[in-house]
Amino acid sequence: MSSNSAALAFGPVVRAMREAYRNGGNAMEAARALLGADANLPMAVLVAYDLQAGTYVDSARAQPGRTETWCSQLADLLRPLVTHSPSSILEVGVGEATTLAGVVEQLGVTLRWAGGFDVSWSRIDAARGWLAERHVAAETFVGDLFAIPLADGAVDVVYSSHSLEPNGGRELEAVGECLRVARRAVVLVEPLYELAGPDAQARMRSHGYVRGLRDAAESLGARVVDYRLLPYTGNPLNPSGVLVLEKDAQSPATDQLAWRCPLTHAPLTPEGDLFLAADVGIAYPVMRGIPLLRPEHGVVASRLADTMRR
Ligand SMILES: C[S@@+](CC[C@H](N)C(=O)[O-])C[C@H]1O[C@@H](n2cnc3c(N)ncnc32)[C@H](O)[C@@H]1O
Repeated sequence: MSSNSAALAFGPVVRAMREAYRNGGNAMEAARALLGADANLPMAVLVAYDLQAGTYVDSARAQPGRTETWCSQLADLLRPLVTHSPSSILEVGVGEATTLAGVVEQLGVTLRWAGGFDVSWSRIDAARGWLAERHVAAETFVGDLFAIPLADGAVDVVYSSHSLEPNGGRELEAVGECLRVARRAVVLVEPLYELAGPDAQARMRSHGYVRGLRDAAESLGARVVDYRLLPYTGNPLNPSGVLVLEKDAQSPATDQLAWRCPLTHAPLTPEGDLFLAADVGIAYPVMRGIPLLRPEHGVVASRLADTMRR
């Protein structure tokens, strides 16, 4: 498909998704129906979550007890991995940071760095508002789970909270990328298809959710140290489980976060209103203060790189 025909095909999909959302329907389902697909297209995942921006903050405000219980369960899983030395944590698919903020608050340890990224700009915008309101110091940016703009082993612990979930069919890539960026461990809190009952499994299949996360991790050579359903889950038809993967941390932790160009893995440096990978002449913009670090955001700008080097 040429890029122009791709654009023409995407127009009706995005319109159908917006329409479904406005009418209280499921936007990803609308995209799957229109495309006759079982899995969720990356662009459909992005549009569906972007449309929902603000709803997680609303629900954290409306039901603070549920958010607190969720975050405390996650903090209990992360604490043993971050207590022995000042550590950094990264939430992939951070959404509106309602989980990240609560995790940082409830961990009760000093962190070297905390941050998260999401494919959706609107959700990161909502996340920044929530973090500011909670007085939680954490860095957020737009990024893609399948091309995280960070160096190998850049963060001590990489974790997720139901963000691999909609990316069914791409389990190997998702787990592999989390393992690449983690120095010490990966903690995936996701619906675990293989441990779920038949009704939940049917629902997960119909939503195009991830399956076989443990198999994916093991086939990548990861060491599984925990794998089970969790006591607290937001939706019994989408039972949350945990998969903990430990790594032998060989490289020493660094104070500076090592950014990388998601297209080339060349070093990437924040430079005012952009991020620059000077070695390869690629720049990434910052929109309303939010870095846009998905591969699609890369601008080939050799002239800019040369000017800034001088
Ligand atoms: C169910 S929400 C969970 C959000 C957050 N982790 C939490 O606990 O509130 C899933 C999130 O994953 C994000 N996501 C899905 N696929 C992604 C991808 N490929 N890269 C980055 N974020 C992604 C979505 O945009 C969405 O915000």
